[in-house]
Amino acid sequence: MKDIEKELFLSINNLFEHISIKNLKSSTKQLTKKYRNQKAAKFFVSEEERLSYIACRMMATFKAIQYALNEIKSICPKIKVQSALDLGAGPATSVFAFFSTFKNLKKLHLVEKDEKMLFYGKGLLTFSNIGLSNTTFEKNDILKIKNYEFDAVILSYVANELKNFQIEKIINRWAKSKSKIIIFIEPGTMYGFKNIRWIRQKLIDDGFDIIAPCPNKLRCPMAKNDWCHFYVRVKRSKIHKYLKDAKLGYEDEKFSYVIATKEKVKTPKSRILRFITKSKREITLPLCKDGKFIYEKISIKDKNKYKTAKKLNWGDSFDV
Ligand SMILES: C[S@@+](CC[C@H](N)C(=O)[O-])C[C@H]1O[C@@H](n2cnc3c(N)ncnc32)[C@H](O)[C@@H]1O
Repeated sequence: MKDIEKELFLSINNLFEHISIKNLKSSTKQLTKKYRNQKAAKFFVSEEERLSYIACRMMATFKAIQYALNEIKSICPKIKVQSALDLGAGPATSVFAFFSTFKNLKKLHLVEKDEKMLFYGKGLLTFSNIGLSNTTFEKNDILKIKNYEFDAVILSYVANELKNFQIEKIINRWAKSKSKIIIFIEPGTMYGFKNIRWIRQKLIDDGFDIIAPCPNKLRCPMAKNDWCHFYVRVKRSKIHKYLKDAKLGYEDEKFSYVIATKEKVKTPKSRILRFITKSKREITLPLCKDGKFIYEKISIKDKNKYKTAKKLNWGDSFDV
């Protein structure tokens, strides 16, 4: 495990040394149901749900945010991210992800309506000693926030709780500000992706470039009953395994996301949307390319392309 990931893992474990987890099994089930539900869900209706989120969802959410932030670094290495605004920050998950990705980060402002979540967030940052002195906390409704003067604005696992006109309001405020980047992450479900697809189109219609995952601004080619999503592998703690009655030491977190910017972006030619299949003579890449979802076969005879493709995975861009 990399350092900040490990710090978060230890910090969560430490929190549960002082809290009984016996009563959290049913709230964890409830939370999983909400997460999988295709409809918008309201988080967090009880103390048990808050704690279940920290125990069972926070590591996964952290890794999904970290994944998205790394795309900014790899596709737009020249864009400097020194400050960020997190709308709907929950237990300060993004702080761990931003600090693990952008070494020159100076300021993070977290807005969250649930005071107790902010309290837990502060505790996790204090224990791990990550980002606390650079982070400010505001208990507020994100729709009341007017100051977007931060390099990046992030809404991770929040848009599902908002109506389209509210998301529009947020995008319009971002558009008028000096902020360079806006990031939306949602669960990798049909419903999560439906929101992301709608947000993507709004951002393109408003004239912004997409950093990731889309390799162009053409109409999204995903079929109606399909959804564009990616995954990160997350190590499960003992508490996580206990609460979810899980046997495996890891789980795959599926998520959908979109990152837009006011800068001009040179996107890679294509993005891998599923697992790659390999045979002795060729590799098949399921690609989003030129406004289509295609399966591109790369023969072993096409040495350069084959060599590059061999190392790639679901979610990577393919620019050969
Ligand atoms: C699923 S949690 C995600 C938390 C965090 N962003 C993460 O990725 O771990 C959604 C959070 O958004 C907050 N939220 C939703 N609507 C909000 C609003 N209008 N104003 C402030 N916070 C809001 C909820 O209280 C909850 O903590």
